[in-house]
Amino acid sequence: MATYRNVYEAWKTDPEGFWMKAAQAIDWVREPSRALFDENAPFFGWFSDGLVNTCHNAVDRHVQAGRGAQVAIIHDSPVTGHQEKITYAELLERVSRLAGALRGRGIGKGDRVVIYMPMIPEALVAMLACARLGAIHSVVFGGFAANELAVRIDDAAPKAVIAASCGIEPGRIVEYKPLLDGAIDMAAHKPEFCVILQRREHPAALVEGRDLDWHGFQEGAEPAECVPVGGDHPAYILYTSGTTGQPKGVVRPTAGHLVALAWTMKNIYGVEPGEVFWAASDVGWVVGHSYICYGPLIHGNTTIVFEGKPVGTPDAGTFWRVIEEHGVRALFTAPTAFRAIKRADPEGRYLKRHDISGLRTLFLAGERADPDTIAWAKEKLGVPVIDHWWQTETGWAIAANPVGIELLPVKPGSPSVPMPGYDVHVLDENGNDLPPGELGAIAIRLPLPPGTLSTLWNADERHVSAYLSTFPGHYETGDAGYRDEDGYLYIMARTDDVINVAGHRLSTGQMEEVLANHPDVAECAVIGVGDPLKGQLPLGFLCLNAGCGKTHEQVVAEVVALVRERIGPVAAFKQAVVVERLPKTRSGKILRAVMAKIADGERFRIPATIDDPAILDEIRAALKTLGYPR
Ligand code: COA
Ligand code: AMP
Repeated sequence: MATYRNVYEAWKTDPEGFWMKAAQAIDWVREPSRALFDENAPFFGWFSDGLVNTCHNAVDRHVQAGRGAQVAIIHDSPVTGHQEKITYAELLERVSRLAGALRGRGIGKGDRVVIYMPMIPEALVAMLACARLGAIHSVVFGGFAANELAVRIDDAAPKAVIAASCGIEPGRIVEYKPLLDGAIDMAAHKPEFCVILQRREHPAALVEGRDLDWHGFQEGAEPAECVPVGGDHPAYILYTSGTTGQPKGVVRPTAGHLVALAWTMKNIYGVEPGEVFWAASDVGWVVGHSYICYGPLIHGNTTIVFEGKPVGTPDAGTFWRVIEEHGVRALFTAPTAFRAIKRADPEGRYLKRHDISGLRTLFLAGERADPDTIAWAKEKLGVPVIDHWWQTETGWAIAANPVGIELLPVKPGSPSVPMPGYDVHVLDENGNDLPPGELGAIAIRLPLPPGTLSTLWNADERHVSAYLSTFPGHYETGDAGYRDEDGYLYIMARTDDVINVAGHRLSTGQMEEVLANHPDVAECAVIGVGDPLKGQLPLGFLCLNAGCGKTHEQVVAEVVALVRERIGPVAAFKQAVVVERLPKTRSGKILRAVMAKIADGERFRIPATIDDPAILDEIRAALKTLGYPR
C-alpha cells in the first residue's frame, strides 16, 4: 500500500521516473522524451520537448472518452438567484466556438488576452478558449481598481480583453466596464478589441469599433480545434503582489501545469473523476486557476463556480446548501471564510438544516489556518480538516496532508509535510539548515517541481533577484517558519512586505507608494495588524508636511479613498493614523515589524539599532486611539 513516506522517497530517489509516470495521466500530441530540462539553470523546463494542449486535456478528451453528458461546471450564484449546469459536451461546444471567434479576430498562439470577469462560467470558457488556441491569458481579479488593471495591461500587452459588464458584491453592482474603459485610457498599451459579456443585472455601453458583444461576436464562428504547444509554452500569466507597486507576472508553463495538477487531484485531494469538487475562491486568484478551472476539469471532475460569500448571501448556511444540493465531495476554501461562518453561526445551527454527509474533506489554504478555526470546522463538519500551504508562484501545494495517498495525523497549526517535488529547507540568514523547532526562512532546493513558475513575465532578472539570489541553489518562498521533529512544517509569517487580508495577498509597500503620493503626506508606513476575521488588516501611519491646513481626520479619509481608488476595495485599507515621527534604525530603516508587534500587543525586543526609542511610545499612543492592541 502506498504511504506518504514511500511516495515522497520514490520521488527523491528517482525524480525523473516519478514525473514521467505522472505525465501518463496527460494526453500528449507528442510525448516528452524526458521530464526535467536543466540546460538553462536556474531556469528550468519540464517536459519541454512534449507537444500538448491544455484545453484538450480539460475538455475534449473527456467528451471523446464518453463523459460528454457529465456536468463539467455548476454555476451557483446566490447573488443573482441563478443556477446553471454545463456538461462537458456543452463546454466543448462553447469553448471551441469562442476560440473560433477569437481566432477569426487574429488571436493565436502566444498572444496575450486579459480576462476581467466575475465568478461566472464564461470566465472559465474564456480561459479554456485561450488555452485552446495557445493564447496566454491573464485573469485580473474584479476587486482591483482601474489603475491595477492598467498596470497589468501594460505589462502583458494583450491583443484583446475579455470582460463582463459587471460583477455583483452583496448590496452593490461592481461596474466592470467603466473600470475597463478607465484602465485602457490609462494604459500605454491599447488592446485591439474587447469582448464584453452583457450581464442582465447591469448591461454596459459598448465603445464603437473596439468593443464586441460576447454573443454577437461568436455568431456563425467556425469552432476552433486545439493548437498543440510545446511543454514550456506559457499557459497563463497571473500577477501577484510583491514588494513594490509593480506586481509580479508569474508565468505558468503548460506541460508541468497539466501534469502537476492531474497528480494533485487524486493524491492530495483524494477525488475520483466524476466527483464534485468545490474551490470557493475566485478565478482571479491562483486557487481559482488551479482548482476552480484547470485541476478539476483536467481530472474529469465537476467543478463549482460559486458567485457569493460564505455569509450574507443570504446567510451562514449557504456553503452547507451548496454542498448538499450539488453533492460536493471535497471543499477547498480560505480559513477566513470559516471564521466568517463561525462568527455568524457559532453553534452551527444552519448545519442542522442540511445533509452534508457526502462531504469527505475540507481543505484550507491561502493564509495561516488558526487552530481554533480548524477545531471548530472539524467538530461541526465531522470530516478531516486539511491545511495546506502554497503560493501563486508554485501553483499547487508545497506542503499538504495527501489524503488521497494516506491521511497523516493532523497537527492543527501545521499544513503538514512537503509534497513530492519539493525539497523544503528551513534556513538561517547564512543559508545553513536549522534544526527542528527553530524559526527560519523557508526555501526550496532547485529545481522547483513541474507546475511551478518558470519565470516572471518579461522579467527574468527580477525572477532571479526576487526568488533565487538570497539562498543560492534555492527558491526563497518569502515565508518564515519551522519544522518539527516529525518533519511537519509550520508557516508563521512573511519575511517581506506582503500581508494576507481575508486570504488575499497584498503588498504594504504598494499601499505606501499610494499614500506617499498624497500631497500632504511627507512620510508613511503601512503594517499588517492581526484581525480576528480577516487574519490581517492594513494600517497606515502618516507623517504630514508642515503647514498642511487639513485636520488629521480629513487626511486619513482622503488616503483611505485614494487606496480604494488606486488599488481597489480588495485592499481593505480603512484605517490610518497621523504621527509626528516614524521609528527607524540609525540607518533610516522604518521598524515596521516592531510597530506591528505593538499593535498586536505582542512582546518584542527593542532593536539595538533603533535611532530613538522614545518614538515607540508615540506609536503606542497613536495605536491606542484606534483601539490597538485589541
Ligand atoms: N469584485 C469587487 N469587489 C470585491 C470583490 C470582487 N470580486 N471581492 C471583494 N470585493 C470588495 C468587497 O466588496 C469589499 O468591499 P467594501 O470595502 O465595499 O466592503 C472589499 O473588497 C474587501 O473584501 P473582503 O476583504 O473579501 O471582505 P468582505 O467583507 O467582502 O468579505 C469574507 C469577508 C470573509 C466573507 C470574504 O473575505 C471571504 O469570503 N473570504 C474568502 C477568501 C477567499 O476566497 N480568498 C481567496 C484565496 S483562497
Ligand atoms: P498567494 O500567492 O496569494 O496564494 O499567497 C501565498 C502566501 O499566502 C504564502 O506565501 C503564505 O504567506 C500564505 N499562505 C498560503 N497558504 C498558507 C497556509 N496554509 N498557511 C500559512 N500561510 C499560508
